Amino acid sequence: MAEPRTEHWDAAYRRTAPDRLSWHEASPAVSLAMIDACSLPPRASAVDVGGGTAQLAPALVERGFGAVTVVDLSRQALDAAQAALGAAAARIDFVCADITHWIPGERFDLWHDRAVFHFLTDPHDRDRYIALATESVRPGGFLILATFAPEGPERCSGLAVQRYSADDLAARYAPAFVLLDHKTHTHVTPAGVSQVFTYVRLQRHASD
Ligand SMILES: C[S@@+](CC[C@H](N)C(=O)[O-])C[C@H]1O[C@@H](n2cnc3c(N)ncnc32)[C@H](O)[C@@H]1O
Repeated sequence: MAEPRTEHWDAAYRRTAPDRLSWHEASPAVSLAMIDACSLPPRASAVDVGGGTAQLAPALVERGFGAVTVVDLSRQALDAAQAALGAAAARIDFVCADITHWIPGERFDLWHDRAVFHFLTDPHDRDRYIALATESVRPGGFLILATFAPEGPERCSGLAVQRYSADDLAARYAPAFVLLDHKTHTHVTPAGVSQVFTYVRLQRHASD
């Protein structure tokens, strides 16, 4: 039987069409602007953690990233994402796994997470996630995180979240990562509700 966490997210994707989900954005414009600011070389590698049916992974393929991985614990989400992309899905590595147990076996130039880390309210899960991100981003590589801001919602998809300021996130990922820049962004859900997000762009120290 599926883990409750997996079942929760599969049910969310079964219940609602991807473009009606509260976190849906027509274009991941804020993420892409931050990714562009990293000036990564052509063929760089990227992982979108909890990418679900987001448009980020195909946009990275279009931008010339060499290896693009999407990890999500919801098979339902990954199947929907692949079906929507058709033949273009073959250019993306879709991995069905819970990020708190995932073993990537490679390092990435870019780690992106919009609206996943903030669900980790258990300190052990959070520590595991930070350790995994630290091991899995190559020295000099980038970590872009988007979470609900302190003035953002307390819950999403029926689950409690931990809200963060840019300083909170920078402190959590120090000393392995340094904060390069940050942005507060208001996402408007398909139902018209405003949700304030904190975005941070962090870089892993080049020396370790
Ligand atoms: C709020 S949605 C955000 C989706 C996507 N990042 C976006 O911006 O559209 C959270 C996503 O994370 C996935 N997720 C939640 N907890 C996860 C975990 N522990 N490991 C992997 N994926 C997870 C869910 O299935 C869902 O696709």
